[in-house]
Amino acid sequence: MQPPHLVLFLFLTLLLPGTWADPEETQVLQLLQTILFTNVSSAEVFGVTLLGDVPIYALDPADRSLRFHWPWSRQAATEGDMGKIKSHLKVALRNMVRYVHEVAQKVQLDYPLVIQSRAGCVLHPNRTSWGFMDVGEGGRDLIAFEVERQRWEPRQMSSLAELISKSLNSKKAVTSLLEHLLSISCQSHILALCRYGRADLERQEMPVATVFARTPRPDQLLLVCHVTGFYPRPISVAWLRDGQEVPPGPTLNTSAILPNADLTYQLRSVLAVAPHDGHSYACRVRHRSLGTRSLLIPWENHSGAPTTSITIAVLLLVAAASAGGFWWWKRRKGDETTWETQEFMI
Ligand SMILES: *[C@@H]1O[C@H](CO)[C@@H](O)[C@H](O)[C@H]1NC(C)=O
Ligand SMILES: *[C@@H]1O[C@H](CO)[C@@H](O)[C@H](O)[C@H]1NC(C)=O
Ligand SMILES: *[C@@H]1O[C@H](CO)[C@@H](O)[C@H](O)[C@H]1NC(C)=O
Repeated sequence: MQPPHLVLFLFLTLLLPGTWADPEETQVLQLLQTILFTNVSSAEVFGVTLLGDVPIYALDPADRSLRFHWPWSRQAATEGDMGKIKSHLKVALRNMVRYVHEVAQKVQLDYPLVIQSRAGCVLHPNRTSWGFMDVGEGGRDLIAFEVERQRWEPRQMSSLAELISKSLNSKKAVTSLLEHLLSISCQSHILALCRYGRADLERQEMPVATVFARTPRPDQLLLVCHVTGFYPRPISVAWLRDGQEVPPGPTLNTSAILPNADLTYQLRSVLAVAPHDGHSYACRVRHRSLGTRSLLIPWENHSGAPTTSITIAVLLLVAAASAGGFWWWKRRKGDETTWETQEFMI
């Protein structure tokens, strides 16, 4: 017979399927929820769960059931505590809504009321995790749950925040359940999601970069490097002057990273230079999808394009003025110099 601790070890190994699925980066799983209380008898509940920036599931406001964004998020929701959470979701939401109505009547809050909450956990690669839950009212922080102490704390100086924290702290069954959900259940749900959704969660999209110029003033040239379509979000965009990286400064302006509709990102970096300064410029992009390579897009100083069109415009002006002048001169002097106009028209 095996020593009992060995049996236990084997059993645990079977239960925890492989550490190969551990996320290599810090992961944040969070449920964002907004409840709109229009009047004493109505409440609309909106909610979405995100892993990092990836939507996992959403709450259908019509019947308060879960809508899965991916086939694998439905699969992951069958594991661990998620099954139980799913089956108790509607009751829990109903209790929450009733509780807010009760408090609102007790302290005579005005309708409509908007209650927002953010709850979830952060899981580091070394498997340490911490849970959080913040609740706001009317767009301001109201109370927060301190997971380790299993206590609600006010996040604003108001009798409402005091009263609600006190009343929620008296419900010991709820605070200890919340502590379990925000630490154990949340952490194991992240691991399940990372296991089932690996392909989508680790997706990489390569950036597409374009370089062009703007001339806001005759003595200023703005070189624009527009980078879009990349995923994941972290990226490095720099300008090189004669091969050397331009350090941060007043001539360099890089925008925030903004989301595209297809869950990719974009940003632009603008460098102000003097026209015809004799330097060469290039935009350099580094991103995980490119591996160790970088994208290098030189600023083609085809002074060609703008200079040519300016030259043509000037020539046309000269031609028009000469033609006008010639017409006036011809009316006065007759037909002597027809050859001059012909020269301008070549
Ligand atoms: C409460 O608001 C809902 C939704 O806006 C509305 O349909 C209902 O008639 C309102 N009830 C009362 C008592 O005002
Ligand atoms: C785990 O990693 C996080 C983030 O890197 C760090 O803050 C924390 O101290 C680490 N915990 C342990 C026990 O190593
Ligand atoms: C950077 O660009 C933004 C948006 O175009 C602008 O508001 C800001 O003034 C710029 N900053 C500098 C230092 O040029």
